[in-house]
Amino acid sequence: MCGIVCYVGQKQARPILLEGLKQLEYRGYDSAGLAIQQEDGIACYRAVGKIVELERKLNGVDINGNVGIAHTRWATHGEPSEANAHPHWDQDENVFVIHNGIIENFIVLKKKLEKHGITFRSETDTEVLAHLIGLNFNGSLNEAVRKTMSQVEGTFGLAVIHRNAPGEIVVARRGSPLIIGVGEDGHFAASDVSAMVRHTNKVVHLEENELATLTTEGFSISTAQAKPIERSTETVEWRAEDAELNGFPHFMLKEIYEQPETIKNAFRGRLEPGEGVPKLGGIMPVWDSLKECRHVVIVACGTSYYAGAVGRYVFERLTEIDVEVELASEFRYRKLNFPENTFIVALSQSGETADTLAAIREAKRKGARLLGMVNVVGSSISRETEAGVYNHAGPEIGVASTKIFTSQLTILTLLALLLGRHHNLSLTEGVEAIRAIQALPELMKDVLSQAHHIEAIAEKYHKCNNWLFLGRKYNYPIAMEGALKLKEISYIHAEGYPAGEMKHGPIALINPEMPTVAIIPKDDMYEKMFSNIQEIKSRKGPVIAVATKGDDDLREIVDDVIEIPKTLDFLNPILAVVPCQLLSYYCASLLNRDIDKPRNLAKSVTVE
Ligand code: G6P
Repeated sequence: MCGIVCYVGQKQARPILLEGLKQLEYRGYDSAGLAIQQEDGIACYRAVGKIVELERKLNGVDINGNVGIAHTRWATHGEPSEANAHPHWDQDENVFVIHNGIIENFIVLKKKLEKHGITFRSETDTEVLAHLIGLNFNGSLNEAVRKTMSQVEGTFGLAVIHRNAPGEIVVARRGSPLIIGVGEDGHFAASDVSAMVRHTNKVVHLEENELATLTTEGFSISTAQAKPIERSTETVEWRAEDAELNGFPHFMLKEIYEQPETIKNAFRGRLEPGEGVPKLGGIMPVWDSLKECRHVVIVACGTSYYAGAVGRYVFERLTEIDVEVELASEFRYRKLNFPENTFIVALSQSGETADTLAAIREAKRKGARLLGMVNVVGSSISRETEAGVYNHAGPEIGVASTKIFTSQLTILTLLALLLGRHHNLSLTEGVEAIRAIQALPELMKDVLSQAHHIEAIAEKYHKCNNWLFLGRKYNYPIAMEGALKLKEISYIHAEGYPAGEMKHGPIALINPEMPTVAIIPKDDMYEKMFSNIQEIKSRKGPVIAVATKGDDDLREIVDDVIEIPKTLDFLNPILAVVPCQLLSYYCASLLNRDIDKPRNLAKSVTVE
C-alpha cells in the first residue's frame, strides 16, 4: 500500500529518497512527496501521480540536505490530490510527517484541534499526527512522538522530522511495518527493504509500539513506555538486481518467467527423495504438535487465498487432516471454535496484509496454533506465527501476484506431503510425489515456451468484455485465480466458477462473444469437465481449453487449446495457472493497460 523511505547520513538525501520511492512505487502510487532538512528550514515537495511527476517538480530546484523523509500514497482518506499527499506539516511548519496506516480516532482529534484554532489543509487522517506532534514538541522529537502515540488509535508506520531537531529522524510503528537500515555512511528507514537494499542489507525490524531515533552515527530504539531496546541487525538476502526488469517489458512478465526458478527455490534443500519425505526446518519448533494435528485452517486474501483453496484439496488428498480455507477478512468475524491442536496456516506474499494479520491474532486469542507461509523474511506474519516456511522467491514487484502463487502451491504441497508421510501415505507414493515435484521446473518451461501461441489467442479475444473461467476440484481455484488475474490487469470482467455450478446460472450468459477458459487436464474430473464444455459449445460459446498434452478428442470440440505436460493430478494447478497468467498478461498488453501498477490496486493491502 503506501510506502515510506527515509535517510539520514553523509550523502545528499534527495537522490536516495527518489530512488527509494521508485522501488516502493509498486506498493501504492496515486501521489508522492518528500521533505528534506536544509540549513534554513525544511524543503517539502509533493505531486499527484507517479514518482516521475515528483521528479519533474523537483527539476531545477536546489535542495541541499542529508536528512529526509519520503512517501508514496494510496488514498484512503481523501482523494489523490497534492493537498492530501504526504508529507503533512503542523501549523508552524516545524514538523513534517509521513504515515502508513489509519488513525481511527482522527475525527475526534481533528475536532479538538480545530477548537484550538488549528486549520486543516487536507482531508487526511495523517494531518492530525503533524499537529499533535507539533503541539507535543518540547525540545525532544522522540518525546513528542511518544506522547502522540498515546493519543492516537489505529495503525501507523510513521516518520517525522522537525525544524528544531536537526540531524534527526524519529520513526514509530503500530500495525504497519517499519525497518531500519544500517548503512556505511548513515541510516535508513523504510516500510519495505526493497527501498534500501541498494545501500545496505543490514536491517533492524521495529516491533509493535516501538519508536526509534535515527542520526548519521546511530539509532536508538525504545518502547512506547520509554524502555530502551537493544536489538542486533539481521542480514537480508534480497539483491538490488532482483528489483530490475532485466530486459522484460514488465515485472509481471519477468515474474511469470521466473517461475521455474522460484519453484525450485521453494523445494531446494527441502526434499529427501529416497525417503519420499520433504524436510522443512522452519516448522521444527512445532513439529511434535503439528504431526498430531487433525484440523487445519488456511487463511489468506486475494491470490494467496486461491493458493490456499488448492492447498485444501492437496491436503485432503495426501493427509488425514480436515482442512478449511477461509478469506481472512471474513474469518475473523466468525464465531471461532477450534478443536484442540488446530493449526492456522497464514499464507501471504508480503506478510503484512492487514486482514490476514488480524485473522491470526484472533485465532491465537481463541487458542489456535499459528504457522506462516510468507515470502518477505522478517515481515509481521512471519514474526507473529510460531513457525513457518518461507518462499525464498525474491521480491515480487508486479501488483498482480504470479510467481508467489506457484511457489505457495509448492510449499503447501511439501507440507501436505510431509504430514501425509506421517499419516497413511506410503513410501512409494512419497517417492513418486517427490520425483514429480522435482520435474516441475522443466515442465513449467514447456508451458512457458507456448507464450507466442497464448499471445495469438489473446489477440483473438482481448476485445471481449466478459469471460468465464471454469474448473473442478484442484483446478476450481485456478479458474478463480485466472478470472482474478484478467480482472486485475486488463480490467475485463471475468468470473471464475466451479464447472459443476455453471448450469445453475452462468450458462445463461453464454454467447459467441463470451469466451470460456476451461481448465481440463486429464484427471479424475476430466469426463465431467468435458460434458460442461459440450454444454457451452452447444450454445455457441468459444472455449479455450487448458488441457493435457496430446488430448486430441478435446481439440476436436474446442476453439483453442493450450497444452500443459502430464504430471500428478494434485500438481496440475501449478502448471495450469501459467496459461491463465500469460493470457491475462497479453490481453492487458494489447489493451495498453498499466500492467505492473493496475489502477486502484496495491501490492500490499495494509488497511482492513
Ligand atoms: C493484494 C495484491 C494481491 C495479493 C493480495 C494478498 O490484493 O494485489 O496480489 O494476492 O493482496 O496479499 P499477500 O501479500 O497477503 O499475499
